[in-house]
Amino acid sequence: MATKVYIEDLSRHTGESVTLQGWLYNMRSSGKIKFLLLRDGTGICQGVLVKAAVGEELFAMCDQLTQESSFRMTGTVRAEQRAPGGFEMDVTAVEIISVAKEYPITPKEHGVEFLADRRHLWLRSSRQHAIMRVRHEIIRSIREFFDGRGFTLLDAPIFTPAACEGTSTLFETDYFDLGKAYLTQSGQLYGEAGAMALGKVYVFGPTFRAEKSKTRRHLTEFWMVEPEVAFNDLNDNMDLAEDFLVHIVSNVLKNRSAELKALERNIAFLENVKKPLPRITYDEAVNILHSKGLPFEWGNDLGGTDETVISEQFDRPVMVHRYPAEVKAFYMKRDPQNPKVALAVDVLAPEGYGEIIGGSQREDDYDVLLGRIKEHNLPQEAFDWYLDLRRFGSVPHSGFGLGVERTVSWICGLDHVRETIPFPRMIYRITP
Ligand code: 4AD
Ligand code: MG
Repeated sequence: MATKVYIEDLSRHTGESVTLQGWLYNMRSSGKIKFLLLRDGTGICQGVLVKAAVGEELFAMCDQLTQESSFRMTGTVRAEQRAPGGFEMDVTAVEIISVAKEYPITPKEHGVEFLADRRHLWLRSSRQHAIMRVRHEIIRSIREFFDGRGFTLLDAPIFTPAACEGTSTLFETDYFDLGKAYLTQSGQLYGEAGAMALGKVYVFGPTFRAEKSKTRRHLTEFWMVEPEVAFNDLNDNMDLAEDFLVHIVSNVLKNRSAELKALERNIAFLENVKKPLPRITYDEAVNILHSKGLPFEWGNDLGGTDETVISEQFDRPVMVHRYPAEVKAFYMKRDPQNPKVALAVDVLAPEGYGEIIGGSQREDDYDVLLGRIKEHNLPQEAFDWYLDLRRFGSVPHSGFGLGVERTVSWICGLDHVRETIPFPRMIYRITP
């Protein structure tokens, strides 16, 4: 047997005889010649099988290969500009591993529910493959960014005793003799403890929200990365978010251009994502809404449509800061210049994708924070450890959370977050 290689490495093997292992993507056949498209997860390669060269028996055997059958093919690698990926194989041997039953997903159009029910197979399609590769690049870039700046990864628990982002979206479960536990909505509070121990940390993991919203932006289980930095104020926090987004987008443009092309993404929009990102106050955002004729009342949270209208005024992500404190979480510090607003920032992605980052400077005063916990009717015992962070050497500190799926959706230019995660969990879907 020849050396086993992956399709993405074929350029290093031109003129050599090698073996590819994978699944049949498609086969075209005439009386004398067959074209076998093999996909192996790293790419697609066309194998050319000439009857006169390989003999009747092998040529006929290949007729058993149905779509998605697994097999190995061996042959000589040849550069071919017109071929997908730039290489072809002159096949000398084929070994069938498993003949696939009739495959349900065909090149014709399928409905979204049909595909979602077969998500475990749908992932093999070239479009889903491209999205997963972009997702991976985004996650890799996230880690690279923080690791390269001296942050320590801090893993927060998934079972938690209390809410972080308001009680309305908690998933509840029984926890032995200790009563109820809740699936985490955010690792932030633990990240704050980490920042006091390690200076700068990031929490990165799955989070859960019993969102009743059936929108193209909501999942019930999604991944969030949450940096938290001791001594950072709101401006430092916005500087960090800006460098972070520029880093992610430029990496995807550099390393995943083939995938963006496969997704027919207009990359001109992504190429705009450079410093500085515009920063506007909530008040300025409200003025934009009024100037567009929207009847928005000061004090309300920005809804999906409002975010779309605001973000359409800019060619890159826009940071909106200083929201009314009433609509924001209990832990956010109020602006000493104007206690009606919180030192909060949301980053809205362009092209109508809406909020991808939410963050703030945190309340660092013990008495004020205790007052907020009471105002929000939160169980004080469950937050006693959190108050310790203000009892023992409290410092100004800030952080934010970026939703991975919304970021993938924006960068890939998708219609819905359900395609951004291998197995989406939504209000009406828990399978496969
Ligand atoms: O704005 P959120 O609720 O902020 C927090 O959870 C803070 N504790 C973060 C922090 O300061 N450490 O959520 C942050 C981001 C949103 O901007 C959005 O991208 C994403 O998480 N997100 C969702 N993504 C998919 N489905 C949902 N249901 C989401 N809810 C929030
Ligand atoms: Mg938010």
